[in-house]
Amino acid sequence: MFSNLKPQPADKILALSGLYRADPREDKIDLGVGVYKTAEGKTPIMTAISKAEKILHETETTKSYAGLAGQPDFHAAMASMVLGEGYPADRLAFLSTVGGTGACRQAFELARVANPDMKVWVSDPTWPNHITILNFMGVEVKPYRYFDNDARAVAFDAMIEDLKQAKKGDVVLLHGCCHNPTGANLTLEQWAVVAETLLETGATPMIDLAYQGFGDGLEADAAGTRLMAEKMPELMIAASCSKNFGIYRERTGCLMVLGDAANTAVTQDNLSKLNRLAYSFPPFHGQALVAKVLTDPTLRQEWEDELEAVRNGMLGLREQLASELRQLTNSDRFDFLAHHRGMFSRLGATEEQVLKMREDNAIYMVGDSRLNIAGLNKTSVPLLAKAIVAAGV
Ligand code: LMR
Repeated sequence: MFSNLKPQPADKILALSGLYRADPREDKIDLGVGVYKTAEGKTPIMTAISKAEKILHETETTKSYAGLAGQPDFHAAMASMVLGEGYPADRLAFLSTVGGTGACRQAFELARVANPDMKVWVSDPTWPNHITILNFMGVEVKPYRYFDNDARAVAFDAMIEDLKQAKKGDVVLLHGCCHNPTGANLTLEQWAVVAETLLETGATPMIDLAYQGFGDGLEADAAGTRLMAEKMPELMIAASCSKNFGIYRERTGCLMVLGDAANTAVTQDNLSKLNRLAYSFPPFHGQALVAKVLTDPTLRQEWEDELEAVRNGMLGLREQLASELRQLTNSDRFDFLAHHRGMFSRLGATEEQVLKMREDNAIYMVGDSRLNIAGLNKTSVPLLAKAIVAAGV
């Protein structure tokens, strides 16, 4: 039977990490996978998380099964972080998931149960794994234009023109903030137009919110999602705790499904069933850590301060890189790097130029020229700027 299996193409982002590790050059720079790193190249455990772990270690009395859909305290804490204190609890169903990827997968599954013929509209470009998952599920993917490659900015008119083609029963996948891979984001005014457009079409929005706190701050990064929650009758939100809590390997995610209050209980049943048939109970540890950090005022302050420092560090690196390139090229054509937000920017280099930087300078970025700003430090920024110019970008 297994001889029927076909070799699978490697995931481009994860494969790049392998190539980077295998490179013996000492001055190599990893701008690939979306993991936060300090100037020393470490991905530390956040202090508030370490403290919450200690508390959990001292107070936990059992490792028995917990909630099938997840922990209510985690759900409530996530809902207030994402949607604000006055979130509409009666209209929300929740599912704790295996990371943000799990939340996306379960959202697609739920939508497909509700409408087996649904199509999913994704930004062109989007996180490649969105498309890989949907292809594997046999769901039709419809790209909508999103990024103007010349301006390195959102191609908003084109985006709206395409979204008008979405139909009732389709899902429109949006990035809540810190668009992956481009770094180009919607303004709040643009979010309002997206909401109006989707209200006209009847399509259901789904927001992938994997980087809240990495762009303009915890509140600002949720503003588009909150606007959608206010205006739309239905909305799915796939929130990840991997990056903003730095708990990547704990696999902690939360799917929130907003709908008519009369349907909340049935939606909740369907969500719980999706966990049961995929893996039964979701991982508990990360949920407990996040709930603790978000609800303990001291830990929460400590976490917010640390997250803010991480965010400001990335903004500083963006400014520095844009300024180095301004000097080297005597132009402002790389200023978009300072305007983009989040971990990533799409540089706009060709695949050949990306490879040249990898070969000549041991700089590893994804083939579409997505670079992880957090992979830089003050010393490597000038090296990258020179390599970009030398590659002829
Ligand atoms: C990324 O885009 O690099 C991250 O979301 C990590 C991943 O799983 O691809």
